[in-house]
Parts: sequence; structure tokens; C-alpha cells
Amino acid sequence: MTVPMSKRLATLETGIFAELALEKRRLQKNGVDIIDLSVGSPDMPPPALVMEKLGDYVRQPANYAYSITGLESFSDAVAHFYASRYHVQLDPQHEVLQLTGTQEGLSHLPMCLLNEGDIALVPNPGYPIYDASIRLAGATPYPIPLLEENNFLPCLEDIPEGILARAKMMIVNYPGNPVTALATHEFFEQLVAFAKRHDIFIVHDFAYSELVFDGVRPISFLSIPGAKEVGVEFNSLSKTFNMAGCRIGYLCGNRDGIERLALLKSHIDFGNFLPLQRVAIDALLAPHELFEAQLSEYIHRRDRLCEALQNVGWPVAKSPATMFIWAKIPDGFQSREFALNALREAGVAMTPGNAFGSEGEGYVRLALVQPVHRLEEAAQRIGVYLKSVSHAVNR
Ligand SMILES: Cc1ncc(COP(=O)(O)O)c(C=O)c1O
Repeated sequence: MTVPMSKRLATLETGIFAELALEKRRLQKNGVDIIDLSVGSPDMPPPALVMEKLGDYVRQPANYAYSITGLESFSDAVAHFYASRYHVQLDPQHEVLQLTGTQEGLSHLPMCLLNEGDIALVPNPGYPIYDASIRLAGATPYPIPLLEENNFLPCLEDIPEGILARAKMMIVNYPGNPVTALATHEFFEQLVAFAKRHDIFIVHDFAYSELVFDGVRPISFLSIPGAKEVGVEFNSLSKTFNMAGCRIGYLCGNRDGIERLALLKSHIDFGNFLPLQRVAIDALLAPHELFEAQLSEYIHRRDRLCEALQNVGWPVAKSPATMFIWAKIPDGFQSREFALNALREAGVAMTPGNAFGSEGEGYVRLALVQPVHRLEEAAQRIGVYLKSVSHAVNR
């Protein structure tokens, strides 16, 4: 093509993810058995109720029309879910907006809030669409380090005044990906005060709201007094109900934020497939045991993998939440090199931490998306790989 790529598209990087995917494909073509822990796509099925009812709705001819906007009963179901699960009261008409997954909303919201010259604060390391969507909106992302010594919470006092003067939006994500940390009430309270002080709109990504382990309860940002005045929260059924492929999500909270994204969406989409909206309503209104049942499997996988890695000489911290382990790599390695070599030598695919930002260097992310026996095999293979490199280094 002779037409040059748009300047906005040209700012997007695919770097490490693309390199890893290519290498994975090459090895698989050569018959290598890859244990893929690199992608956070749930391997467990949705609850039986979801699959059965979706089948029923798909057989109803009336469900094939344009939906245009989300069903009102979907917003009602979200309001019910938020009240019963997070003690957050939402006005379904003005404070809930249906999305085709969190990813879709995250990619479009910055266009509704930012102009060229504006800054948006993003976590480093952070989920890649945060940075990309800000660039696509023509604005500039400013990375805020998430460091272990601060419990992976941003240090709001360290943000320079000049940046704060231009910042219009800040994205936070707890429980997080790739850093699996949880927010505290105190942090969210500080965030509300910070947002008011500096006039910065807060966007909380709560996609992992229901993958929180060891009896801890997830905290919705919107449960903090004043939060709705300064921000919104994304959530979806992808992880809670394992509906990542039949995608549906929602934005809730600040009325102006909701209205702006609804306006943009009225120009670019005609609503989700009606059977999906209807089954999402059933899922959101169902007893919570429907999704709580999978927590024990994730905890089991996390414990078995962390113990198996410890046994082969790589002690990694157990995640308090999400479907990932955020693992500090052994001394003497770089993230990219460690992940690529483990893929080639051990047939285990992990994501290098620096794919999520510079502060991810020194880490890799492992997804708990394989059954326990495969996770244990992955640990064994990594152990053999680590032994071979330590022999090579010591020779
Ligand atoms: C932190 C985070 N936010 C959002 C998403 C997108 O989720 P959805 O399927 O709702 O678009 C993901 C998907 O992995 C994620 O990890």
C-alpha cells in the first residue's frame, strides 16, 4: 500500500507480544508441545446455566434484530449485581452502560475525555490497551511506576506538578493485570481526594473483581464515598462467568462519563447479540455460588504451581487475586531473554514483564489457564531449564 500508516496507529507497539507469538507458532509447527501460560484466556467453561440458556435464546428468531442500545433489563441486572455484591447503588438508566467487553470500552473512553496535549496517567506495568487507547485518542500516556515496595500501588505524591497540570484522566486496575495486587480502602480514598484536588477523571478497571482469593472481598472503587463524582468502573462477564469469547461487559459510575461513551457508541455500534444480553442478565441475577465455585480451582492451581516452582528452585510469590502469577525472575536474567529461552528450551510460554511497561523488567507473567497436571509439568520443565543454564554459567 502506498498510503502511509496514520500517525496515531504508528504510535502503537506490538514488539514483544508479536515476537513471542511468532516463536510459539514456529515451535508448534515443528511439533513442540507448548504449555501455554502466556495468554489470560479462561480455559474453564461458563456455568452450565449460561450455556443452556444461551442455546435457548439463540433458537428464538426474534433475537436476531439489531439491539441498537443495551437492554434496559441488562442495566437493571448490573445495578442488582453491584448492590448485592459490592454494596454500590447505581441508577441503571444513567449510571450503567453496556459494552462489548471491557476492552471495547477501554479503547473508546479516552476519545471521549482527552484532546491532543492532554496527559493520562497509566500504571507501569499495566494492561496494554491503557497506553494504546490514550495514544489513539491523540493524547499522551504518562506511566506511573507500580513498585513492590509500595505494594504495587501508585505513589500519588511523586507525580510532578507539571504533569498533574496537564493530566485529565488516570487509569487504575485492582485486582491487577499483570501485577496481581489488590487496592486498599485507604488508597481508593486517597485517589478520590487526589482526583478532586487535581480535576483528574478516574477510570478503574475491575475486570478481575471476582477472582480474589483466600476469603478476601474485592473492593469496588465506586463503594468509596465521592467516587461516582470523579470516576467510572469497568467490569465484564469475561472472567467472572468465563464468557471471554461471548463478549459482554459494562461501564458504571459517573453519569457524565457514561453519557459521553454512550454518545460515541451510538455512532459506532448497534448493540450486542440479543441472546448474549439475555443470558448475561440471567448470569448477573443468579445466586453468586454460580461463579464462586471456580475460585477453589484457581486457588488450587496457584498453590500447586507456586509450590512446584519453589521445589525446582524458583520461589515465586502467591498471587492474592486474578488468574496470573507475577513472578520475579532469577538473578542474572532479563525478562525477554528468560521468557524466550524458556519457550525454546522448555516449551513453556510465559509473558515477559517488560511487555507491560519498563517497570515489568525483572518479572514474567504466568497465567493459571491450564489444569494442575500441566502446570506441574511446566514447573518441572522450567526446573530442568534453570539447572541447565546454571550449569552453563558455573562451568
Ligand atoms: C486488566 C484487564 N482489563 C480488561 C480486560 C479485557 O476484558 P474483556 O474480556 O472484558 O474485554 C482484560 C483481559 O484480559 C484484562 O486483563
